[in-house]
Amino acid sequence: MLPRSRLLVVNTFLAVSFIAGSFFAVGSAAAKESNVKTVFEATVKHKDQECVGCHIQVTPGIVKDHMSGKMGSPTNAGDYVGCNDCHGTNHTKNDDYKLAKMPTAQTCKKCHEDQVGQYKAGKHNLAWFAQKSQQAWHGQPASIVKQGYRGCSGCHKLGEKGWQGKLSGFDKMTHDGGKEASEYRYGNAQCDACHTRHAFSKKEAQNPKACSNCHMGFDHPQWEMYVSSKHGVIHESDPTGTRAPTCQTCHMNGGNHEVRTPWGFLGLRLPTKENVLALIKVAPSLKDNLTKLAAGLPSGNYVDVDDDPQWTFDRAMILQAAGLLDSNLQLTARAVEVALQAQAARAPEQFNAERAKMKNICNNCHAKDFVKDFFMAGDDIVKQVDSRFSKAIQAVQGLYKDGILQKPKGWEYGPDLLQYYDAKTGIELELFWITLEYKQRAFQGAFHASNDYMHWYGWSPLNRAVNQILEEEKRMRKEHAMGLKLDIH
Ligand code: HEC
Ligand code: HEC
Ligand code: HEC
Ligand code: HEC
Ligand code: HEC
Ligand code: HEC
Ligand code: HEC
Ligand code: HEC
Repeated sequence: MLPRSRLLVVNTFLAVSFIAGSFFAVGSAAAKESNVKTVFEATVKHKDQECVGCHIQVTPGIVKDHMSGKMGSPTNAGDYVGCNDCHGTNHTKNDDYKLAKMPTAQTCKKCHEDQVGQYKAGKHNLAWFAQKSQQAWHGQPASIVKQGYRGCSGCHKLGEKGWQGKLSGFDKMTHDGGKEASEYRYGNAQCDACHTRHAFSKKEAQNPKACSNCHMGFDHPQWEMYVSSKHGVIHESDPTGTRAPTCQTCHMNGGNHEVRTPWGFLGLRLPTKENVLALIKVAPSLKDNLTKLAAGLPSGNYVDVDDDPQWTFDRAMILQAAGLLDSNLQLTARAVEVALQAQAARAPEQFNAERAKMKNICNNCHAKDFVKDFFMAGDDIVKQVDSRFSKAIQAVQGLYKDGILQKPKGWEYGPDLLQYYDAKTGIELELFWITLEYKQRAFQGAFHASNDYMHWYGWSPLNRAVNQILEEEKRMRKEHAMGLKLDIH
């Protein structure tokens, strides 16, 4: 065993030759040599040469990534960011590594205040809270929804831990000051979702593929929809060109880290006071409940396509089946948590502002009316989807009312769309497919100009599923009536 000081010299030598190796791989040798020298000097000055020297052996990939990134190889050597800037200096030996600090977005804030501020104001920061607001989160293995990060939590860890809803506060939330985060050794960094460690590259995050590990698949296939739209196709044919927009052009324009869309993930928005009062004229028997509901709702009009009474009614059926409205059509505790605090649904002011922002972006490349028609068609598809979905929901609700279906033990609502795949009957599982797959693909495909996703993966199976539910309802009613006749109930 070499004495510690000798070991350090050896390590530092290894580090320099390793870094040199990676630099010599590209560009002119002379320029790279001077870069190696300045980086080496920077690590010495920065007092993280021990970290680098030892980690070149312990985790060579991390050191290589660090040195390849702008923070490890800055334009001005004086801007060098060391391992110790993010991980602290408490850990210095092979066996005390548990003392190393694990960074959070807060760690980046001291040097990137703008990006962190925008990020915190956007929906990505709420991803952990949104996950936990779901019925389906409860009772799942920790490997899926907590520190194992092998399912929901693997994607939703880009959200900040520690947010807590406050029932009385509506959209107000409190933060636990880091208590929940301290229960997790890894996965609190957030920013590494798009700028993966330790390269922390801007270029990588500008590539639409940076979004594709999460925005894909079953219930939000934005990646698949994008690559099958003309925008994606043009981008693919010339990845460095600017003719076609990327995810970032439309959702992080100007490098703004605050992400939010008008309709959101679920294609939901809050009913307005005016929408609900207009429904009374069509459904006078619901007057008392609707008047009471309207009192707590925001006022205003939605741009492009506002809700008509039929749409307000259909949306109310969906909200009820999701446990967001109770049987008297009043907002539930779940509505406060999911719709308001996790921001799954927006009120007119915010919806209209986000829509205007998005239209302006399209307007860089398309005519105003082209864009307006596009959004009106998209809104109409949400409306058509809601109308079909509402029919299916009412059929299942009818089975509950008539005692043909019973609420499973422990369920507060029946049917309950937010029980996801834990639904107990075939007919309710079919509702689950509509909720998270078909409905989503139909409207998200429309907004991403993917005709195939909109139609064949969305609208078509949606209609098939609704027809199947109505058929199954008839069958269950017939069977139930026969059972009554034979007195086997
Ligand atoms: C003498 C060698 C040595 C030195 C010096 C050293 N480390 Fe480590 N470090 C290790 C070893 C060994 C591990 C554990 C790696 C493993 O388990 O694969 C580790 C792990 C880590 C981890 C991960 C901790 C975890 O819980 O997973 C971080 C972060 C880290 N080191 C940062 C640093 C920083 C910052 C410095 C300088 C201030 C530093 N290291 C100096 C050897 C060293
Ligand atoms: C001590 C200050 C400091 C801290 C802490 C810090 N950075 Fe940086 N960061 C910089 C500097 C300086 C640059 C610019 C280097 C250059 O361009 O020469 C930079 C550049 C970047 C870039 C742009 C890289 C590129 O390819 O252009 C990203 C992304 C980034 N940092 C992310 C982060 C993240 C994420 C964290 C927290 C985990 C973080 N930074 C923490 C100082 C810091
Ligand atoms: C700009 C900030 C930043 C710098 C500089 C930085 N790290 Fe990290 N490091 C992170 C982040 C972020 C994580 C992920 C933390 C988490 O999982 O929540 C991380 C995680 C780690 C881990 C454990 C996770 C894994 O993938 O094994 C090790 C080991 C580590 N860093 C070592 C280093 C070493 C060595 C250096 C210097 C060569 C370094 N880091 C420089 C931000 C940084
Ligand atoms: C592949 C990564 C991934 C997995 C796995 C995943 N999600 Fe998500 N989740 C996302 C993405 C991406 C979004 C945003 C999609 C959108 O807006 O269209 C999202 C959105 C959500 C939302 C909506 C938030 C809102 O404001 O509208 C909730 C709630 C949610 N997920 C809960 C869960 C739960 C619970 C699980 C596990 C049962 C889960 N997710 C599994 C990536 C994932
Ligand atoms: C959803 C993906 C995503 C996440 C998460 C993300 N970024 Fe970025 N970031 C980007 C994109 C895209 C750009 C490039 C923006 C542009 O084109 O100007 C960028 C650019 C940057 C830059 C370079 C700014 C410049 O003008 O050179 C910094 C610094 C940065 N991000 C820091 C952060 C920090 C800190 C966090 C965590 C709070 C973070 N990012 C989280 C996508 C992301
Ligand atoms: C041409 C601009 C454009 C591009 C490119 C684009 N989007 Fe979108 N995105 C939209 C529009 C428009 C909406 C719906 C806006 C609304 O609610 O009115 C939307 C909605 C979303 C939503 C909310 C749920 C939904 O799908 O309606 C997410 C999440 C999203 N986009 C992510 C992405 C990702 C990830 C990519 C790249 C793979 C991407 N988008 C590419 C314009 C775009
Ligand atoms: C690590 C997984 C992950 C990555 C990577 C990721 N996202 Fe997300 N994104 C999510 C989750 C989870 C949500 C839902 C957050 C919530 O609503 O609580 C979300 C929400 C969004 C929303 C808001 C949708 C709404 O409901 O209004 C937009 C827009 C968005 N992401 C765009 C992007 C873009 C663009 C990129 C790439 C530059 C990206 N995301 C990268 C997981 C991810
Ligand atoms: C950076 C420029 C750019 C931006 C921004 C942009 N587009 Fe496009 N878009 C194009 C180009 C180029 C085409 C291909 C024109 C053609 O079909 O000949 C296109 C095509 C389309 C098409 C036709 C697709 C087809 O299959 O026929 C639609 C619809 C569309 N864009 C809608 C939008 C909407 C909505 C937005 C904003 C949310 C938007 N675009 C933003 C450049 C852009």
